[in-house]
Amino acid sequence: MSKLTRSVLVDIELRLKNAGVPSPRFDAESLVAFSLGIERNRIGLLKEITDEQYREIEKLVEKRVRRIPLQHLVGEQGFRRLVLSVGPGVFIPRPETELLVESVVRYLLDQKNERHTIIDLCAGTGAISLAVATEVKNCDVYAIEKSSAAFDYLIKNIDKSQEKLNEQNSKVIAINKSIEEEINELDLLRKKVDAVISNPPYIPNKMVPREPEVKDHEPEIALFGGKDGLDVVKVVIDIAKNLLKPGGFVGIEHADVQGSSTQDTGVPYLLIESASFQKIEDRRDLNGLPRYSVAIKS
Ligand SMILES: C[S@@+](CC[C@H](N)C(=O)[O-])C[C@H]1O[C@@H](n2cnc3c(N)ncnc32)[C@H](O)[C@@H]1O
Repeated sequence: MSKLTRSVLVDIELRLKNAGVPSPRFDAESLVAFSLGIERNRIGLLKEITDEQYREIEKLVEKRVRRIPLQHLVGEQGFRRLVLSVGPGVFIPRPETELLVESVVRYLLDQKNERHTIIDLCAGTGAISLAVATEVKNCDVYAIEKSSAAFDYLIKNIDKSQEKLNEQNSKVIAINKSIEEEINELDLLRKKVDAVISNPPYIPNKMVPREPEVKDHEPEIALFGGKDGLDVVKVVIDIAKNLLKPGGFVGIEHADVQGSSTQDTGVPYLLIESASFQKIEDRRDLNGLPRYSVAIKS
C-alpha cells in the first residue's frame, strides 16, 4: 500500500527532530528527494510514495537518526555556485567559508592582473580553490592537501568542474603534500603570488566538537591544530609571508575564539607579529562571530 508523501515527511521530520538533528525539515525533504531521484523543491508535486520507495527512504532515515551527516548520505554539498562531491574522509565545506571566498573574489576582481596566481592551503574537497577559479577569470590556483582520502575528492571535484574552469580560462593544480614539508612546485612562485587562502584545521586538540556529525564523522586531520589550535595557521602565515607579492592578499579562517589582535591566541595577533602585513582585519560570520582574518602583504 502506498503512503501519502506529506505524512511520510511529517513522520521523518519528527524522528529526526527527536534525534537532535538541527534542520529536521530540510533533511527529511533532502533524503526523500535523494531517494526518489528528484529535486527537493519538486517533492510537493509527488502525492504518494510506494512501499518499495518507502523501504529505500527508511534505510537513509535510520542512518540520519544515528547522526551520519546528511552530506555523506546524499554524497554532495552545495558551496557558492558549485555542488561538490563529499563523503567519509573529507571535510564537508561549511557556509562560513563562503564568506572567506567572497573576500578573495572581491580582491581579485579589483586587480588588473593578466592572470591571477592563488594558493589554497589545506584544500579538502577543493571548495575554496574551485569557487575562486570558477568565479574569477584567468586564475591558476594551487590546491595543497595532505590527506590522500581528501585528495581523491579534490581530484574528483576538479574533474567535475572542468567545464566551468575552461569557461573562465582557469586552472586548479592539485598537490598531495603537507604544507609543513618542502613543496618544490611552489618554489618559482616566491613573491609572485596574488592571494593565499586557507581554511586550515584550527580546533585546539583537547576540545571535543559538540555536533556528532563533526565529532564522529569528520577526519581528525581536518579539525585539530595542536595545543591552541594554531599550529597549521602559523605555517600558513609563514607561507603567505614568503610567497605573496607586495600588495598580495591573505585570508585565513579561524575559530571564534581566535579573533584577538592583542593575545597570542588570535590570528590577527599572529599576522601583526609576523611584521609582514598591513590592513589586518578580522571579520565576522553570519552569526556575528569572529571567523576569518584578512591582510595585505607589505
Ligand atoms: C577544515 S578542513 C578545510 C577543507 C577545505 N579548505 C574547506 O574549506 O572545506 C582542513 C583541511 O586541511 C587538511 N590538512 C591538515 N593538515 C594539513 C597539512 N599539514 N598540510 C596540508 N593539508 C592539511 C585536512 O586534511 C583538511 O582537508
